[in-house]
Amino acid sequence: MTQSAAAPAGTVTVRVPAKVNVQLSVGGLRPDGFHGLANVFLAVGLHDSVSATRADSPRLTVSGPDAALVPQDRTNLAARAARLLAQRHGIEPDVHLHIAKDIPVAGGMAGGSADAAGALLACDRLWGLNTPYEELLALCGELGSDVPFSLAGGAALGQGRGEVLTPLEVGGTFHWVFAVAEGGLSTPDVYRECDRLREAEGTGSSVTDVPEPAADEALLAALRAGDAQALAAALHNDLQPAALSLRPSLRETLAAGREAGALAALVSGSGPTCAFLTADADSAARTAHTLTASGTCRTARATTAPAPGATVV
Ligand code: C5P
Repeated sequence: MTQSAAAPAGTVTVRVPAKVNVQLSVGGLRPDGFHGLANVFLAVGLHDSVSATRADSPRLTVSGPDAALVPQDRTNLAARAARLLAQRHGIEPDVHLHIAKDIPVAGGMAGGSADAAGALLACDRLWGLNTPYEELLALCGELGSDVPFSLAGGAALGQGRGEVLTPLEVGGTFHWVFAVAEGGLSTPDVYRECDRLREAEGTGSSVTDVPEPAADEALLAALRAGDAQALAAALHNDLQPAALSLRPSLRETLAAGREAGALAALVSGSGPTCAFLTADADSAARTAHTLTASGTCRTARATTAPAPGATVV
């Protein structure tokens, strides 16, 4: 572990990435209220930082332009992560967590999950627990479906409800643009809308109605090869119709990015952030500029993938 010279003594800071789902195939609604997934996660270069500092009692603060949108009480997933880790080790969760927020809030980029993974790793190091990686991953899975991937980063296939990870090889750098929407979407609402649309189409929405989702081999090959054109052709998100149904204006955002020259456009996870795969860094910069000027989103950010997982800085 290395600590930056600027950090006060007794503080551990962890940087943790956002994600995009390059494949999100949603199975039927399970009796436990979750959906079986074939979920190909790719970590991208937008980050939150979570700092853990010793304190007399649990405390949480958040900074960044959208800090007001983040719950700053014990319901925050980062605070829950600290309590879970402390409880497993029979210690008090007395820590001041500070989240420096840059990942869109409720944006479909796993920002809350990132903060949970960051808090777990930061507290683990602060408290000198040095929990083995596999155990940290299991704790992440208890906190939420996307949290294990936030710890792991890179690229991975998520099965089960998304928490059972198989790391994937990525053979190059991909250039992405993310169009950040005004306001968020609730993940449970988007899954519910997906079920409702399936029922309305007459296909049914339960595990017996919907085929078991599977990873797309062409998409995995495109990732392995670092081939942006092939990846663009294979991008797929089963939650996109539901996100568009709840937020029809996203169609305009997707169209604006395509017109700006992106290879492909899709909703990121449960949305409302829209993701655009581009050919190279120049094209990403141009697409971000055009999208921001289009008025179809709040702002657009260019970045690269894959990004490393939660990292002590
Ligand atoms: O696991 P997480 O807390 O992120 O899930 C939030 C909600 O998203 C769940 O309560 C459920 O409504 C929905 N979800 C789902 N199937 C998944 C993952 C999440 O239905 N595989």
